[in-house]
Amino acid sequence: MSAPANSQFFSNCTVDALDQAALALQKGSLIAFPTETVYGLGADATNASAVARIYEVKGRPSDHPLIVHIAGLESLESWTSDFPVYAISLARDFWPGPMTLVLPRSGMAKDFITGGQETVGLRVPAHPLALGLLHAFKKIGGQGIAAPSANRFGQVSPTTAQAVEEEIGKYLSPIDFILDGGPALVGVESTIIDCTGDSPRILRHGAITKEMVEESTGLEVVEEESDIRVPGTLERHYSPKAEVILDVMAEPGEGFIALSAIPTPKGAIRLASPSTTVEYARVLYAALRSADTQGIKKIAVIPPEGDGLALAIQDRLVRASRGR
Ligand code: TXA
Ligand code: MG
Repeated sequence: MSAPANSQFFSNCTVDALDQAALALQKGSLIAFPTETVYGLGADATNASAVARIYEVKGRPSDHPLIVHIAGLESLESWTSDFPVYAISLARDFWPGPMTLVLPRSGMAKDFITGGQETVGLRVPAHPLALGLLHAFKKIGGQGIAAPSANRFGQVSPTTAQAVEEEIGKYLSPIDFILDGGPALVGVESTIIDCTGDSPRILRHGAITKEMVEESTGLEVVEEESDIRVPGTLERHYSPKAEVILDVMAEPGEGFIALSAIPTPKGAIRLASPSTTVEYARVLYAALRSADTQGIKKIAVIPPEGDGLALAIQDRLVRASRGR
């Protein structure tokens, strides 16, 4: 993999590289790093000017809250002022993993992290490099790494280091790094669970499903709308440049994404043919990206049916299709 113009790539992430990246974080650098869901663009979550650079690089409105990534459950208390018992069940069962808990914030979670809200989003990611970086950062006094997905605002989240470089490489500076940990295993962003009420509420669907949350907590997940702002659920999001149309067969020359059981329409350009829902999630974003690289103008997508992870995929695709 070639080195990007502005930032540095660490392909073979040795302990040394992680220590170096942790030191860079401490000095205010941005570090793009792999997680099991998608790649994140990280900064020291207590450093206002470093976090401000995340917003610049992403081109993201500054009132959108960021998820703070922490090394483990033991770091939860410093970021929150209070948490319900069910949040501990969830954290025990699914961390490290593709789940973000929204909890009442402590004084450490400043407005530049929470977008001025009284809550903070926290997650322990399940990728060895992410965890390695978090532990290396903690060892030198770091409290947590604020990281949105490493894409420009409204675009498709990157699932490889190469995609990160293509998305934001030109906005990074020479003090920043991209850690390469291979393709993300889950492929869609974490499930976000609001833990500020008596029962958990899912704010964004992901690989940790409603059934899993109910099983872990013994509580019924609340379904009605909350007044918590979750900009990742903006109508227009996760959009490639190509137009995305759902539940139709592709015309000749158009891109086509569907489960492998569905044959490619004549003349269409097959972008992905995953055989399971899990694989669908894993390859979806790379498939959307590859349409743009190939200059394809329209992508016909047949989303997977069902709930659980399929719901997360359907949700992202509906938003991607509203992108134009
Ligand atoms: O899987 C993921 O969650 C990835 C990886 C990098 O961890 N991160 C991610 O971050 O998707 P981002 O910023 O692209 O999306 C996070 C979503 C945003 O929609 C944000 O509004 C919401 O989480 N969020 C963060 N803190 C929140 C809070 N305190 N209350 C409500 N929503 C919050
Ligand atoms: Mg995002």
